[in-house]
Amino acid sequence: MSLHPSVLTYDLSAAEITEVEAVLAQLLATGQDPAEPAFSDELWRFLPGLPAELRAFLQRFRSEEPAAACMVRGLPVDDRRVGPTPLHWQDAATITTARREEAYLALLTAALGDVFGWSTLQQGRLIQNVLPIPGEEGQQSGHGSDVLLEWHTEDGFHPYRCDYLALFGVRNLDDVPTTLASVREVEISDEHRAVLRQQRYFILPDDEHLRQLREIDPDAESLRQLQLMRDEPEPVAVLFGAPEDPYLRIDPFFMSHLPGDEEGRAALAALVAALDAAQQDVVVEAGSLLFVDNYRAVHGRRPFQSRYDGTDRWLKKTVSTRDLRKSRDLRTSSTARIFA
Ligand SMILES: [Fe+2]
Repeated sequence: MSLHPSVLTYDLSAAEITEVEAVLAQLLATGQDPAEPAFSDELWRFLPGLPAELRAFLQRFRSEEPAAACMVRGLPVDDRRVGPTPLHWQDAATITTARREEAYLALLTAALGDVFGWSTLQQGRLIQNVLPIPGEEGQQSGHGSDVLLEWHTEDGFHPYRCDYLALFGVRNLDDVPTTLASVREVEISDEHRAVLRQQRYFILPDDEHLRQLREIDPDAESLRQLQLMRDEPEPVAVLFGAPEDPYLRIDPFFMSHLPGDEEGRAALAALVAALDAAQQDVVVEAGSLLFVDNYRAVHGRRPFQSRYDGTDRWLKKTVSTRDLRKSRDLRTSSTARIFA
């Protein structure tokens, strides 16, 4: 069963929900904070407690790459227990009412790879909160609302960006859609594809990384590095991997082509138009977990009206990698999960 050709779905059965609840109870009994690295370090112990079919589904999504995204549906979420949607991610980070949902997200994330965090985003917490923040309605981030969040590759500017982005619905009463488009569904010419495979494009760091770090630690080395990526970016290719079934890396809002490169501009415009045409809406409802393959799909969000009355859309988010080792230069130890 599938919502869209590029989103595979898995519906938990009643028996599987019972299995999942048992594992979550064990995880919560540890008393640890799912957003802390120590929690994720121990998840291998609990993975075998997940339903075997669910583990097989996630493993196939990872190894066979059959789709650009997958959705696991059906975890019951008690809307009253999780409490009102907080007004700021800093408030959300201190609230413990959604620990069960965070544990579930962390556990399923661990079935695909290693969760990590950026020291520049939400103080490096491994579980992030996506919710509208008063005063940030117009921002191109997970905290905006009034404006379309333009589709993008998550952290497309960065060589160590995630393989998977996960969004779990704590609350989405208005069915605010996430948007998705798979690179497999675009139709562009072979000539444009060839140009897009060449290092002719710049992708700049988005404002959110720079803004938060400036506020938290204006003297950080990572801020200096990010500013370097912004001021003297290295040209990159947009399409890579197998020519007949490529991966992509794109963020039109923050990117440009080499100066005077008319061919590069035209190829990028063709791909952007094709991805625009391939956009589809996916609603991450309460209890649903969407995994986006960040090498296969771009994602965004439709605009919505925030109310700030505790009923706004509230998602929990993780980013994960299939290979933590490649980012060793940004981490303090081989086991560290925070990119500093
Ligand atoms: Fe994003």
